[in-house]
Amino acid sequence: MISNIHYMKDVKSIRDIDITGKRVLVRVDFNVPMDSHQTITDDRRIRSALQTINYCIDHNACSITLVSHLGRPKGEYEERFSLRHIQKRLERLLHKRVEFIEDFESSKDEISACSLERVFLLENIRFYPGEKKNDPELSRKLASICDVYVNDAFGTSHRKHASTYGITEFVDEKVAGFLMMKEIEAFSKALESPVRPITLVVGGAKISSKITLLESVMKKIDKLIIGGAMSNTFLKALGYNMQASLYEQSYVETAENVLQEAKKNNVKVYLPVDVVITDSVERPIDVKVVPAQDVLEGFSAVDIGPATVKLFHEAIELSNTIIWNGPMGIYEIDRFSKGTFKLASAIAGCYAYTIVGGGDTADAADKAGESENFSFISTGGGASLELLEGKILPGFEKLDRKQGA
Ligand code: 3PG
Repeated sequence: MISNIHYMKDVKSIRDIDITGKRVLVRVDFNVPMDSHQTITDDRRIRSALQTINYCIDHNACSITLVSHLGRPKGEYEERFSLRHIQKRLERLLHKRVEFIEDFESSKDEISACSLERVFLLENIRFYPGEKKNDPELSRKLASICDVYVNDAFGTSHRKHASTYGITEFVDEKVAGFLMMKEIEAFSKALESPVRPITLVVGGAKISSKITLLESVMKKIDKLIIGGAMSNTFLKALGYNMQASLYEQSYVETAENVLQEAKKNNVKVYLPVDVVITDSVERPIDVKVVPAQDVLEGFSAVDIGPATVKLFHEAIELSNTIIWNGPMGIYEIDRFSKGTFKLASAIAGCYAYTIVGGGDTADAADKAGESENFSFISTGGGASLELLEGKILPGFEKLDRKQGA
């Protein structure tokens, strides 16, 4: 039986078909972070889509229509989520004019009039209530403006939406873009044919969001490093009083089970031995480092301490494959960012295959100034997590397959 990741690797890519003279619709993920003035603060997702867009231009697609969402609007227009905020940056990166389409239904003729090299950017597809409902009517309408569907929105490939999933029912040729293929290749290297020892570093706020991951990888990894607020729940399971720290009482038993499973599977687990604590997260005055079992009354653990950084560093140093998903503390706040940034540098400095899950972890890697020093940084937050959990992502599921299976 072929593995899920192998199944996804076997989809046809844009390179496997002839797009000359065809109307190509590319689902991209331009859901980029912006500040309060709608200025893009990280354009990695836009840059990651350029290869596919340029390929369409170079191979004489009749028209190229880009479809994306931005943020989480409630099925109607909201200025702050307009894709117009993306248009200029895209033009600058593409060195090309991009025509903005408010309403693709009324612009159907324009998009269809074959005129080489025209690039259209549709307004936020989540302004249509049918997008998130995977409404077949919206899928059919989108399909009617193209001959070829290319999914290159890896970051959204875990969503079963009209433009990421439903549309495949109505288009004859549906393939993956270069970013989708790169992502799947990178994860396949870490999960299917890893050079051992393989270490998983997990962090972030909640065990609840990572439990499926922890359960699914237990038989594949050699070492498990746990930091971030989720490690508080594990420390609680060891009997430590975590005082005012964020932890999940209802997951303490789950944490115990994870530790037992790890033992059964010979996975060595590393937890914080010291933590940075504060009297207040919002207005920290008293911040200190204490052993993990000695959190002071009224204080919260908000980062891993220096001894833990050293311990984690030693654990990853001898790894040949490292997968990192989740920050080690509240890295967005300067005083609580050291643990995450030092760990980022430690992983980046390893002579290993290093893969970073998207979302917060990619942002932390970037803020640590290390984004060029990993083998691969995923553009998908939730998508990379579901991929690591071993699921078939809907964005790959219905694309044409090389084997025709
Ligand atoms: C992301 O940022 O993870 C993707 O763009 C998906 O966005 P969503 O979580 O709003 O579906």
